[in-house]
Amino acid sequence: MNRSKLTYVIEDDSITATLTRILLEKNLHGSRVQTYANGQQAIDQLTVALSTGTDDVPDLILLDLNMPLMDGWEFLEAFSRLPLPTPVCVLVLTSSINPEDRAKAARYQNVAGYFAKPLQASGVLQIMRLRCAAGGPELRELGTPEVSLHHLVYQSHATAPLDELELARLLTQSRAFNAAHGLTGILLYSHGNIIQLLEGTKANVREVFARIARDPRHTQVVKLADGPVTHRLFGQWSMGFQVVNPLDFNHLTGYVNPDQAHYLAHDPALPDPDLHTLLATFVSDNSRLMEANG
Ligand SMILES: Cc1cc2nc3c(=O)[nH]c(=O)nc-3n(C[C@H](O)[C@H](O)[C@H](O)COP(=O)(O)O)c2cc1C
Repeated sequence: MNRSKLTYVIEDDSITATLTRILLEKNLHGSRVQTYANGQQAIDQLTVALSTGTDDVPDLILLDLNMPLMDGWEFLEAFSRLPLPTPVCVLVLTSSINPEDRAKAARYQNVAGYFAKPLQASGVLQIMRLRCAAGGPELRELGTPEVSLHHLVYQSHATAPLDELELARLLTQSRAFNAAHGLTGILLYSHGNIIQLLEGTKANVREVFARIARDPRHTQVVKLADGPVTHRLFGQWSMGFQVVNPLDFNHLTGYVNPDQAHYLAHDPALPDPDLHTLLATFVSDNSRLMEANG
């Protein structure tokens, strides 16, 4: 089946749908765009495309949330039951500013981004970077410039080694809170060494860090950076740690395998290559440590 560059725009407002289509066609070169007025129309079309093996299965879907007949949430449920041959990147494009909607969207494995209407040209550039094939799901809020964005990086050591189950529990606990508070970034854990980047509003970053710093599960917490930034480097909050069988963890939203370090690839359009170098060095130092330990 030919999966070359097809984008679905699922949007009930015909003017918004047309504007989005024009903007995408102008900027996503070589990508066809099809618009659907509600989730049901898109599911019907996808079902036909999957059963006939045509090239009408998209690699990218822009999804409105509030629609008649089948809304965005119902679409995501129906969509998750489709036998898709490869992952399809879904980006929520909505006028909802409700943080609960954002957190709820983060719980869907296919949802790679969440951003505000109307879509702007700068947003399309970010969409190109968010295509799932380029490096796994990311949950970014696009379309609206963020004010007073702050980041904080720290290093620490686990008080006692954390096993896979404890790390998975920490991932689930932290991810729910971080998603609901607009916090993105990454935590890397290896052999008891921890490095974490937190991005968000200054108040949210400081508040969560105060709690993290008090957590008895780790010690020797040392801040490496704490200041304003213009861009987020990560679209969601995730955790990377080595596990015996990575396949068991792939279903866990927010889990990244540090041996596949493409998620750290530096985007030249964004500043701060130093921070990427720092994170990449943590990964490479620790994988060398693992080799040395056999
Ligand atoms: C290394 C490490 C990183 C953590 N990162 C986060 C995080 O990013 N977000 C979060 O909500 N909790 C995180 N936690 C958990 C918090 O420290 C804390 O347990 C949790 O926020 C609940 O706080 P409370 O018990 O004061 O309510 C982390 C804990 C550790 C040990």
